[in-house]
Amino acid sequence: MNLKRNVTSALCLLFLAASVCVANSRPGRTFSFNDNWRFQLGDVPNAKNATFDDSRWRRLQLPHDWSIEGKFSEKAPAGTGGGALPGGIGWYRKTFSIDAALKGKLLFVQFDGVYRNSEVWINGHYLGKRPYGYSTFEYELTPHLVYGAKPNVIAVKVDNSQQPNSRWYSGSGIYRNVWLTTLDPVHIAHWGTYVTTPEVNNELATVLFKTQVNNASKSAAPVNLTTIVQDANGREVARQIQKGVAANGSQAEVSQTLRVSSPKLWSDVDPYLYKVVSQLEQGGRVVDRYETPLGIRTFRFDVEKGFFLNGKRLKIRGVCNHHDLGSLGAAVNTRAIERQLEILKAMGVNALRTSHNPPAPELLELTDKMGFIVMDEAFDVWKIQKTKYDYHLDFDEWHQRDLEDMVLRDRNHPSVFIWSIGNEVMEQWNKNPEGGNISRKLVAIVRNLDRTRPITAACNGVTTDNKVLTEGDLDLVGTNYHHADFLEFPKRFPGRVIIGAETNSSVHMRGSYAMPSDEIRRWPRKNEDILKLGPTYECSAYDNSTAPWGAGHEEMWKLVKKHDWFSGMYIWTGWDYLGEPTPFPWPAVSSYFGIIDLAGFPKDPYYFYQSEWTNTPVLHVVPHWNWKPGEKVDVVAYFNNADEVELFLNGRSQGVKRKEGDDMRVFWRLASEPGVLKAVSRKNGQVVLTKETRTAEVPAKIVLSPDRQTIKADGTDLSFVTVKVVDKNGTLVPDASNLIRFEVIGPGSIAGVDNGNQISHEPFKANQRKAFHGMALAIIQTKQRPGRIVLKASSGNLSSASIVINAR
Ligand code: GAL
Repeated sequence: MNLKRNVTSALCLLFLAASVCVANSRPGRTFSFNDNWRFQLGDVPNAKNATFDDSRWRRLQLPHDWSIEGKFSEKAPAGTGGGALPGGIGWYRKTFSIDAALKGKLLFVQFDGVYRNSEVWINGHYLGKRPYGYSTFEYELTPHLVYGAKPNVIAVKVDNSQQPNSRWYSGSGIYRNVWLTTLDPVHIAHWGTYVTTPEVNNELATVLFKTQVNNASKSAAPVNLTTIVQDANGREVARQIQKGVAANGSQAEVSQTLRVSSPKLWSDVDPYLYKVVSQLEQGGRVVDRYETPLGIRTFRFDVEKGFFLNGKRLKIRGVCNHHDLGSLGAAVNTRAIERQLEILKAMGVNALRTSHNPPAPELLELTDKMGFIVMDEAFDVWKIQKTKYDYHLDFDEWHQRDLEDMVLRDRNHPSVFIWSIGNEVMEQWNKNPEGGNISRKLVAIVRNLDRTRPITAACNGVTTDNKVLTEGDLDLVGTNYHHADFLEFPKRFPGRVIIGAETNSSVHMRGSYAMPSDEIRRWPRKNEDILKLGPTYECSAYDNSTAPWGAGHEEMWKLVKKHDWFSGMYIWTGWDYLGEPTPFPWPAVSSYFGIIDLAGFPKDPYYFYQSEWTNTPVLHVVPHWNWKPGEKVDVVAYFNNADEVELFLNGRSQGVKRKEGDDMRVFWRLASEPGVLKAVSRKNGQVVLTKETRTAEVPAKIVLSPDRQTIKADGTDLSFVTVKVVDKNGTLVPDASNLIRFEVIGPGSIAGVDNGNQISHEPFKANQRKAFHGMALAIIQTKQRPGRIVLKASSGNLSSASIVINAR
């Protein structure tokens, strides 16, 4: 959300019924409205009425996703595609009072996202509905409020009962943040600024700034707008004042041009952020203050040479992600999103596609700060359904509003580079003229609000009879998959820029290995053949297991690396996600596509990319070393910054290997024997890195490692604790599946547990989890008070472990 208003004393004039001052989690006159909600699962007659008694309902803090609290079931109407978790109807209510001193202010409530079909009432007055579960929307409360000690009640009905309505896990409920905004009658409109930089060079950036000013006041006193550009240290670098804007009772759009000299540019490696502060002043008083992020960068797409950022060629090395946060479900948590992005960055990822819907605002705030090139996507369906109750039912009535809201909300984010109006929409097939017609309409809606970014649609019909691509007025041809006819793309779409909106289709289970590893396993399409791949429901984590429509990681990156005209790739997917457990049916319930598992543990291909995409020294050896003596085992090493790798088995050299031609790894096939496998990488004869893989003995102890040991005592911050089952020498036991029990002492709780196993039906909200291939995850969440949080982990006769996390 780019709306951040000034902190004023108004903050403490707004009280909850319990007389607690509303927490301000963002600077400004926009306050968190997440605390003290009541929730009831199921439909409740009269729950919209202000007088309804909700005292027996569960009290909770938003964001909240009720599906993740449910049980996996083969019979769940969402199907395994939707994660085999329950949907249904839920009601939320919040009682709050507003100080009489706020009379005369305008009050608004903003929901960042409610899945789905939300309807909202304030004090029994109907405010409206929003079918699409990924849109951000606000309602004005002012005319319906009561002031002083009298309570106000906001009631929200969420209806996710019509199933299936999604091809992936959606979550259910008010799963994103809710905000309350208090405004002077003279104010900057919702999403009311628009910043662009039409001219950028080393000496100067021209900043064109548009501000939508609403003046609902009775006073005739003139309103002045001051627009200030601040650098990353808060120093003013440009200022413009416009006097006498928007007379009382009117609205105005003010355009200002500011100049920033010697601009520092935003890039994926150095995401330098300026900020634009807008101030409205009337009668000597600042009546509104609004902040807009600003990143100054230039970019272009060249038909032959691909993508250029700030004049330099850059391959877009992206991933697609769904919005769920693993065991936290869809409930937004900024730290959990940040962790996802950190782990992706460390792999060398520089881009993200918000497949297949507008993301949480917090995600874009983070991608601005962390340097990701975002493809911001609106829809997975237009008019033709993919699942029975999906957005095709709402498209006609809502697409314009939903698309406009996405662009208005997100167009100031420097990390947003590309708009996508749809993913693999069914209108792309059978020469359907609707493909072109709808695409042109959607493109026009976007262009009307933003002409600074190219528009694409992600299509797996990469052919010239696909009217979305040929007649849809798109700027970029967005291709999904088709590695086999990849070289045909430029011939099919001459003179057009091509981007891989969705590439690769590798499926892996962390720590599971099928040999021979040099065989790409494209599974057969027939269901009975898929079932033959069971009963273990494993997909090998060597880069040797793919869906028929996509390539393996190495296979695809070789193509992309070689061909400049392919401006970039967004791999399906960075992280595993809930639902869509292709290629398996139940009991599999989460995806295998991720390079990182659901718990956040990298699978082996992660290190393949790290060796290709970063300068971080890498020497990663696959697999573990617990095999039957004599068994033929394939050993793969991913490495960089070195000429060769030598492998030793129990001290005996197994040969020196170098990458030949366009190889991106080296490989040995050995007869296994227990002991130590040691790899040594060398450059010019000097050792760069050494890696030892040992045969593990029986499980002996638990090791806990938190990703952060000091976290904020704000009730939302998280520490992600990796749990390993190791033998007496500290070696990870690769097949350990011990049940680990957790205990938390102090001001913290377990927000979720996981282990990355796609076929586990253990609950995510629990204080125990089985290890999977030796590992598990416990997520510790703070309460709103500081202190020492102790996490203890135990399991039968293993030595237990405990760690301290400081909440400050
Ligand atoms: C694509 C689709 C994605 C996902 C993926 C699985 O065709 O766009 O949402 O379903 O296939 O391979």
